[in-house]
Amino acid sequence: MRDPSAALAERPGHIPPDLVVDFDCYEPEGLQDDVQLAWWRAQQNGPDIFWTPRNGGHWVVTRADDITLFQVDNERVSYADFVVPRQPFAPIPPVNLDPPEHGPYRAILMPLLVPKAVSRLESTVRDVAIQTTEALAPRGECEFIQEFAKILPIMVFLRMVDLPFEDRHMLVPLAEAGSRSPDMETRVAAIRTMRRYLSEKMAERRDNPGDDLLSVVVHANLGDRPIAFEEAVSLAITALFGGLDTVTSMLGFCTRFLAMNPKHRQELVDDPGLIPDAVDELIRRLGITNSARRVKVDFEHKGVTFKAGDQVQVPAMLYGLDDRLIDDPLTVDFRRERPIPHAAFGAGIHTCPGAVLARRELRIFLEEWLKRIPDFRIKEGTKPVLASGIVCGVIELRLEW
Ligand code: HEM
Repeated sequence: MRDPSAALAERPGHIPPDLVVDFDCYEPEGLQDDVQLAWWRAQQNGPDIFWTPRNGGHWVVTRADDITLFQVDNERVSYADFVVPRQPFAPIPPVNLDPPEHGPYRAILMPLLVPKAVSRLESTVRDVAIQTTEALAPRGECEFIQEFAKILPIMVFLRMVDLPFEDRHMLVPLAEAGSRSPDMETRVAAIRTMRRYLSEKMAERRDNPGDDLLSVVVHANLGDRPIAFEEAVSLAITALFGGLDTVTSMLGFCTRFLAMNPKHRQELVDDPGLIPDAVDELIRRLGITNSARRVKVDFEHKGVTFKAGDQVQVPAMLYGLDDRLIDDPLTVDFRRERPIPHAAFGAGIHTCPGAVLARRELRIFLEEWLKRIPDFRIKEGTKPVLASGIVCGVIELRLEW
């Protein structure tokens, strides 16, 4: 994705020197202690909007009002450059498409992720959470990311597409290589293999449809015409990748927080009825996504001149940490007044269609894990390994109980 030795970008003429901050979204200072706090320092210590010469050179908007503006303004802002540093991505429908191309793809996915559809997946989420936790409990320790956080979302996807759970042994490493490998060739090769796998399955479902996601997508209409086979495969890949790394990361951050904060953990053990609200408070404090946009036309905002072609990083994770919007934003308070302000699932036309499913997975995980492993901590002598970027993540999390 990124070449750490790459030269710093030259400051374009329309960017004044006082708006330049040396901020690397992949290596913010203090990343390994608390990645959200590391980003928060950039919000607190710099101008509301700054430009960094790192990763090809791009703007970062740090305050809630500006994050919303760049999420909802489809007239002046495009989704084309949603990854930093920018790269020539083929369309990943609907993620990096603008209107009018975006809507028809999204319309296919939405009914597959509405609350009624998610409820049909609930028993899978619960069964996997129970079985995995029960298998781990007697061991007294685990590496949570490999042994739980990666397994739950892939099993949910396999249930959505009606494919055998055993396929996870092949898909988990592929998904990992496809979303987190530092080597571009490895990423491309993994996504190609994933595409081949899904193409084969979708060809079968084209001829013998069921009621699963692959069958629905391959037989869908894209606006007023039948979707082409390759378009359908791309959309299925988006549904797969959209729900893997994100859910794994959120599970990782929530579990790391509870491992390090016994009072909060005990609150949930004593009163499991708090868990649904706790999920949103954890998502607010431990947000993970920082996608980017491309400016379509020159415009001014808060005295800053944006030029067509500029790339702007829009850290959704900073919205719920903005002290102009929320009191004491760094404190996790499960009894915080509702609704809890955050934009962890985005805003506007690209708002995450998987939010209902993601919240359900987190809630059920907490319910079932805390019943069986109520008292756990970071394994002595280890430190969780965190990653920052477009999607922040927990790479390794050793627990003991
Ligand atoms: C905690 C977990 C999750 C988080 C934090 C999250 C976050 C987000 C955010 C912030 C966006 C908007 C990106 C932007 O504005 O640039 C998004 C879009 C999307 N998400 Fe999620 N997501 C999560 C889980 C899921 C799940 C479980 C699925 C599906 C199974 C999913 C599928 C998608 C898709 C398809 C899009 C693109 C929507 C569009 O472009 O219209 N996500 N997600």
